[in-house]
Amino acid sequence: GWVEAIQRNLLAWYDQNKRDLPWRINQDPYRIWVSEIMLQQTRVDTVIPYYERFMERFPTLGDLAGADEDEVVKAWEGLGYYSRARHLHAAVREVTASYDGEVPQQWEEISRLKGVGAYTAGAILSIAYDQRVPAVDGNVMRVFSRWLALWDDVAKVSTRKRIETLAIQVIPADRPGDFNQALMELGALICSPLAPRCDHCPVRDECHARQRGIQAELPVKSKA
Ligand code: ADE
Repeated sequence: GWVEAIQRNLLAWYDQNKRDLPWRINQDPYRIWVSEIMLQQTRVDTVIPYYERFMERFPTLGDLAGADEDEVVKAWEGLGYYSRARHLHAAVREVTASYDGEVPQQWEEISRLKGVGAYTAGAILSIAYDQRVPAVDGNVMRVFSRWLALWDDVAKVSTRKRIETLAIQVIPADRPGDFNQALMELGALICSPLAPRCDHCPVRDECHARQRGIQAELPVKSKA
């Protein structure tokens, strides 16, 4: 079926083509968390050196929780959007105070932490804790819009929720974190916004937009 083909082809492609990124060396939830916060407004290539320096300076959640806020903001210098650093710092202190230093595994708990929205919660729970939950960012919405030829406006919250519901049904139980990262990787490397490289796409046979030749018209995104 369609779902099995997507799972098999996308994961096989990911295994061959995934980039060696410093937040992929293990499943430490703290390391995944920091990477996802940095990647929210900043490109992968830009993030890498900042991430490596930050991890040398604050190797564990306890190190970050024990630091002063100005040290943390200083280590974030150059990445911009400094409220991300302040929220992350407040949130790891909350994890220390309320959860004995263990990043919570419950959706209700983790998504209550400062700076952790639906996307970040899904990324941490799937990548670090192998939970079958979606992590839908702009890349993933683009991929789904094209696969299923969805004309829904991806600027709308209702569209993100629709795509989360679709994603849940496609995420395989045995490799949820790899599957979510494979979706991000496909969006970054192949299913790009302006000129998707469909000839190299591992799931081109399952793509409704490609079948109709409308991949360049999707996704629909309103300005407001
Ligand atoms: N963008 C956001 N999260 C990512 C991840 N884990 N790997 C690659 N790109 C990403």
